[in-house]
Amino acid sequence: MKPLIKIRNLKKYYAQDRKVVKAIDDISLDIYPGETLGLVGESGCGKSTVARCLLQLTESSSGSIEFEGNSVLNLKGKQLKEFRRNAGMIFQDPYASLNPRMTASDIISEPLEIHKLLKGAEKRKRIKELLDLVGLPQESMFRFPHEFSGGQKQRIGIARALSMNPKFIICDEPISALDVSVQAQIINLLKKLQKEIGLTYLFIAHDLRIVKYLSTRVAVMYLGNIVEIAPAKDLYDNPLHPYTQALLSAIPLPDPVLEKTRKRIILHGEVPSPLNPPKGCPFVTRCPHATPTCHHVRPELKEISPDHLAACHLLKPISAKTPLKSAEHRVT
Ligand SMILES: Nc1ncnc2c1ncn2[C@@H]1O[C@H](COP(=O)(O)OP(=O)(O)O)[C@@H](O)[C@H]1O
Ligand SMILES: [Mg+2]
Repeated sequence: MKPLIKIRNLKKYYAQDRKVVKAIDDISLDIYPGETLGLVGESGCGKSTVARCLLQLTESSSGSIEFEGNSVLNLKGKQLKEFRRNAGMIFQDPYASLNPRMTASDIISEPLEIHKLLKGAEKRKRIKELLDLVGLPQESMFRFPHEFSGGQKQRIGIARALSMNPKFIICDEPISALDVSVQAQIINLLKKLQKEIGLTYLFIAHDLRIVKYLSTRVAVMYLGNIVEIAPAKDLYDNPLHPYTQALLSAIPLPDPVLEKTRKRIILHGEVPSPLNPPKGCPFVTRCPHATPTCHHVRPELKEISPDHLAACHLLKPISAKTPLKSAEHRVT
């Protein structure tokens, strides 16, 4: 299957006080039609920067991004508009992302206005359709953001993202700002919409737990790099990278017997600053298995088993017994 999105060797460096922030430091990634790619990593590792580069909200420093086989870098005018119709975004904070002075109807239809797509009765019909789709009553179209709960606000954000019938949506930590009680409702809504409309998602989260039930594949980011990417089940059952293993070992297991034997891998130290990342492996300063090579040579993301890629010098491709394979940290 051809990827919907193809990212190659993407870098995004910001200039800050005459220094360079390496927010994304060479990532390559494919996103296939109809899948949900979960993108996980700690705060500051570059997830939102990937989103912004992808949607052309910021200029990439180098590398390539293709959508349906065409480069999206340096798009202008009509072509940029066309791309924006096909690719939407749902933001983390529904409180901050909705204009408090606009009604739900105006917020949802703003992209239609900008793109001059629908008018009058047709536009109202589309707004009602969208409200139905996201589970909000049609009467809510004339209400203002402060009259909605957090979960309802996020539903408005989703309706807005869907207004132009995009093929692809980036969900950037869409439930992080919501109460736990409504998080599952929003996840279920996103799942339902994907099935009904055939959407492709890039779903960003800071916690592996959140993307587990949603993702077809999961990519783990660390300090501007992708350190592991695999089909979701494979990643949870058999994490290969020491960082992924540590993240998974922190998640309590639902089975009380297994939970008793769960061994937590505690990572020491902080994530290094992207102003001054390590020369070799980005994870070297916190890796319990680091060797001298890891300090000097950046490991490539390579296929260790079919469709399961990891960037670690200690992992050898296929069948060779990998020292880091471990069943101890499985989550079910
Ligand atoms: N406009 C900017 N100027 C300078 N540094 C930035 C800018 N935006 C993000 N960064 C830095 O880039 C890194 C990645 O940020 P971000 O992509 O927002 O991370 P995440 O979404 O994973 O929390 C962080 O160190 C952040 O401080
Ligand atoms: Mg972010």
